[in-house]
Amino acid sequence: MLTNLKPQPADKILMLMQMFRDDPRSGKIDLGVGVYRNAEGVTPVMRAVKAAEKRLWETETTKAYTGLAGDPAFGEALSALILGDAVPRDRIAFAAQPGGTGAVRQALELVRLAAPGATVWLSAPTWPNHNSIVRHLGLPTRDYRYFDEATRGVDFAGMMADLEQVAPGDVVLLHGCCHNPTGANPDPAQWAEIAELLARRGATALVDLAYQGFGDGLEADAAPTRLLARRLPELLIAASCSKNFGIYRERTGLLVALAPDPATRELAQANLAFLNRQNFSFPPDHGARLVTMILTDPALRADWEAELEATRLSMLRLREQLAAELRQATGSDRFGFIAAHRGMFSRIGATPEQVERMRADHGIYMVGDSRINIAGLNAATVPVLARAIAEAGV
Ligand code: LMR
Repeated sequence: MLTNLKPQPADKILMLMQMFRDDPRSGKIDLGVGVYRNAEGVTPVMRAVKAAEKRLWETETTKAYTGLAGDPAFGEALSALILGDAVPRDRIAFAAQPGGTGAVRQALELVRLAAPGATVWLSAPTWPNHNSIVRHLGLPTRDYRYFDEATRGVDFAGMMADLEQVAPGDVVLLHGCCHNPTGANPDPAQWAEIAELLARRGATALVDLAYQGFGDGLEADAAPTRLLARRLPELLIAASCSKNFGIYRERTGLLVALAPDPATRELAQANLAFLNRQNFSFPPDHGARLVTMILTDPALRADWEAELEATRLSMLRLREQLAAELRQATGSDRFGFIAAHRGMFSRIGATPEQVERMRADHGIYMVGDSRINIAGLNAATVPVLARAIAEAGV
């Protein structure tokens, strides 16, 4: 049987991680995988997470199963962080998932159950695993224009024109904030237009929210999702705690299904539990428990918010510094978009050959589409990158 298997395409981001590890050069710079690193190059365990883990170790009395949808307290706490009071509680179904990827996968499984013929619309470009999961599940899919290669901002006119083609019942995947891989995001007025269009077309929005708190702050980053929740009868949200709680390997995520009415909410909740049971039974609990403790304890929460805000500001400073260094290195303002982008990533617009050259000549690793992880930089490596970009003729 196993001999029948076909080789699978390698994941470009994970392949790059391995190439970086194998590079013996001491000055190499990893701008590949989306993991936050501080100025010392360390991905720290956040203070509030450490404190919660200690408290959990002291007080936890059992490791018996929770519920199929996870501990309800986790869903309550995280859905409140995302949605605030945008919609009544009796319309919100949720189920814990193994990370943001698990939540995306389960959201698409729910789509396949509810509307097998629906086309899933993905931004061009999007996180490569979106395309991969949609294809793996055999769902019909189409792209909508998103990124303007000339301005390196959102191609809003193209996006809206393409989304006019969406059929009623289709699913439109949107990045709630901090678009991955481009770093370019619609502004609030554009989000309002997107919500109107989706409402008019009768589409279901699926929001991938993996970076809440990394863009303009916890509240501002949730605003587009809340706007969609207020405007649309139905909404799916795939939320990740990997980045904003720094608990990548704990696999902590949540799928939220906003239903049009309480009876449909019950149906959606039962289907979420069913899907969890089919796929992995009970979702991982450790990270979810830490997140719940942090969000419900005022002191832990204040400390977490303070550290998250410092993290966000450090990435913004690196953006400003890189834009300034590039102004100097190239004698032009054409990299000003780096300071305007938000989140961990920016697509800088280098060709695959230029990306390869920066890797060969300078040991600078970025994804082949020229996505850089801003958090992989520090004050000392920003000028090195700026010079390399200028030298490569980007
Ligand atoms: C990324 O885009 O680098 C992250 O979301 C990590 C991953 O799993 O690809």
